[in-house]
Amino acid sequence: MTPKLRVGLVGYGKAGSAVANVLSADPRFDLRWIARRSTPESQTHPATNIPIIGIEQHPFAELLEQYPVDALVDFSTPDSLRAYGSEIARRGIMLVSAISAYTDDDLAYARSLGVYTRVLCSPNITLGINFLIVAAKLLRKIAPFADVEIVEQHFKEKPEVSGTARKIAETLEVGGENITSLRLGGIVGHHEVIFGFPHQTVRLTHDSIRREAFGTGAAFALTQLAQCDKGFYTFDDLLLQLIQHELKKQ
Ligand SMILES: NC(=O)c1ccc[n+]([C@@H]2O[C@H](COP(=O)([O-])OP(=O)(O)OC[C@H]3O[C@@H](n4cnc5c(N)ncnc54)[C@H](OP(=O)(O)O)[C@@H]3O)[C@@H](O)[C@H]2O)c1
Repeated sequence: MTPKLRVGLVGYGKAGSAVANVLSADPRFDLRWIARRSTPESQTHPATNIPIIGIEQHPFAELLEQYPVDALVDFSTPDSLRAYGSEIARRGIMLVSAISAYTDDDLAYARSLGVYTRVLCSPNITLGINFLIVAAKLLRKIAPFADVEIVEQHFKEKPEVSGTARKIAETLEVGGENITSLRLGGIVGHHEVIFGFPHQTVRLTHDSIRREAFGTGAAFALTQLAQCDKGFYTFDDLLLQLIQHELKKQ
């Protein structure tokens, strides 16, 4: 039997708490601790009793010494990267970072850690959206003559055009004018890529239901990354590796 991957989760906010629910329930992982910026007193994850630790009280060097892990999953803030970077490099701990707002400097630093360990950075870690992007990219190659439009729908209060829609547009080499944004009710997130052929229409759609979807993406990244050599990876790299592997088996 493959031993469980020992995981430490950094960040216990809106996304991190949903990710904790998924990783703690997945038999492939042993979620050993959850780190947040600060905890006033001893705290545990409600369903599982996994300890929740404040980094201001227990810095990463101390935490990793006391509770060793094989992997870190980061859903906190960009500044955490430099707080644990040298520690994971020294110990060869792999990293799945979901931070969406890294600067170019942060990304260069994350890339440099790839010399010592396996590092994945993904500003969008949802498995379904990443699959949609790969599928859309493939169809664009097969049918460059088809019209392409992107529709995104979100809750009423979201002011900006979805970053995911902009990423899809960039990948498919179409402009922002090909994105239609609708704001209504409480829609969590809907993305649709419509390919208009002369005699047929293809629609690729993705609907977000719950933040736990970030946990499913992190779990996929952990299992794939565990099979990779040291280095820096994107979610696309892992997904394409798996697709190629599956196609070769046909
Ligand atoms: N890639 C994706 O698909 C994806 C999806 C969703 C979110 N994200 C990213 O995930 C991150 C968190 O988003 P969120 O909505 O959950 O934010 P949030 O609700 O504000 O939560 C942030 C969490 O990070 C913790 N934190 C802050 N600084 C820390 C530090 N130096 N060390 C350890 N923990 C620290 C906070 O601790 P306290 O609780 O003590 O304040 C909090 O638990 C963001 O960077 C966002 O871009 C990515």
